[in-house]
Amino acid sequence: MTTESSLALLKLQLDFGVDEAIADGPQNRYRPNVTTPPVEAVNAPANTPSARRPPATAAGFQSQTVAINSAQTMAAAATDLASLAEALRQFDGSTLKYTATNLVFADGNPAAPSMWIGEAPGADEDRQGKPFVGVSGQLLDRMLAAIGLDRRSSYITNILPWRPPGNRKPTPAEAELFQPFLDRHIELVRPRLLVLVGGTAAATLLKRPEGITRLHGKWFEHQTVAGDPASVAPVIAIFHPAYLLRQPALKRDAWRDLLAIKEKLHALGGS
Ligand code: URA
Repeated sequence: MTTESSLALLKLQLDFGVDEAIADGPQNRYRPNVTTPPVEAVNAPANTPSARRPPATAAGFQSQTVAINSAQTMAAAATDLASLAEALRQFDGSTLKYTATNLVFADGNPAAPSMWIGEAPGADEDRQGKPFVGVSGQLLDRMLAAIGLDRRSSYITNILPWRPPGNRKPTPAEAELFQPFLDRHIELVRPRLLVLVGGTAAATLLKRPEGITRLHGKWFEHQTVAGDPASVAPVIAIFHPAYLLRQPALKRDAWRDLLAIKEKLHALGGS
């Protein structure tokens, strides 16, 4: 192949959204290798690239039902936030961890009254292993500050703990797969108020047919601890900061929603 055609091929891949090299060489996906994973993949410590390479019999070959069952079992067994993060690291039901660099679990104060749930890590979050640290995170910090909050007085996580390749939106199947971990996360934190940051978080937790344009700013209820009706907490959806950066005219509505959160926190005795 000439240099020109190699460059043209690379450019085409960039146009298709490819932004990571996840293996040392090409793989024939029509002839999956279902033999034992290489020894170095089994023995390698957790965070080396070969340890993150999918074993041939794991992610991608599990049915969604089997993977959800496994997510439910692993999430239920987690007794604190550290063991929940470790369960997510070990969970093999999704290929996302093999293309991501770092687990993005949460940031902020788990004892804070409000828990803010976004969509999924982007490139900056994936690099730093923390949610909302890129451009939209900077806007989220300003939104928190506008109502007297920061990362010491709030707790932040995402629907997905791994970055989807190319910063694409989580698929509904991915959101469903990781929901047992999110439900357990909410159960362990037991926030007094939940804020769903953007349409994906709203769709995942509220399970309503309306989009974020209709849902934002309205109060709903969410039982934070399974089987405990006393754990019902108010939940509100707001526009995602990345959306607000593209649609600045919506900032007025976003401000109204933030004020509603401030008032509710005050009423709950949380500010
Ligand atoms: N967008 C999100 O929804 N979450 C992040 O962590 C970063 C960007």
